[in-house]
Amino acid sequence: MSAPVIAVDGPSGSGKGTLCQHLAQHLGWALLDSGALYRLVGLAGVKHGIPLNDEAPLSDLARTLDVRFEPGEAGEPTAVILEGEDVSDEVRSESSGALASRVAVLPGVREALLGRQKAFAVSPGLVADGRDMGTVVFTGAPLKIFLIASAEERAERRYKQLINKGESVSLAALLEDIRARDKRDSEREVAPLKPADDAVIVDSSGLGIDEVFGRVLALVHERGLI
Ligand code: C5P
Repeated sequence: MSAPVIAVDGPSGSGKGTLCQHLAQHLGWALLDSGALYRLVGLAGVKHGIPLNDEAPLSDLARTLDVRFEPGEAGEPTAVILEGEDVSDEVRSESSGALASRVAVLPGVREALLGRQKAFAVSPGLVADGRDMGTVVFTGAPLKIFLIASAEERAERRYKQLINKGESVSLAALLEDIRARDKRDSEREVAPLKPADDAVIVDSSGLGIDEVFGRVLALVHERGLI
């Protein structure tokens, strides 16, 4: 592997996204939001009228997906452009998360996204956020983190995020959705959600982002990555 990779895996809402953004920014490394790729395949599938269990056309779509990530100005989130259309808000919505977890069970789709994900590993390094970064995509990563938090706490965090964005959601429905998604992600046959044998498990329950970031940064130093 040419560039060092920090693989960060874990269930929805464990705080991976925020941790990875902070890490990438702090280290000046590239960031791969692999969930966004699965969300985009789901969105594009719907747009093209492809049933979300139809593996062959979805795999073709995943392989040829016309997507651009345009970094925002300081503090602004990255814009996501799918087939020329700005889908930045749509891609982060609850509904596209649900589409993602449906297409993510298809081996052909996962295979088609492999090369695209590996291409993000460029010098000086990559922070990769996902479910199978340490177990499938970047098995040689010198640091693998598996970030967990209780389902209740994850639902609450997500609830606050969505309310702040003006989406109307119920906490009970979010908790149910998180449990269903965890189950689907950890029980699927290909690349199920599980820690790599050499992953460090970090439990973020009851911790703020600064504490989680501090713990992981200490590991980055320990491993001699900076
Ligand atoms: O991380 P995010 O919530 O954006 O991921 C959405 C869904 O995409 C997950 O619930 C999971 O089903 C799928 N996913 C995956 N492998 C990844 C990243 C995401 O299967 N590496």
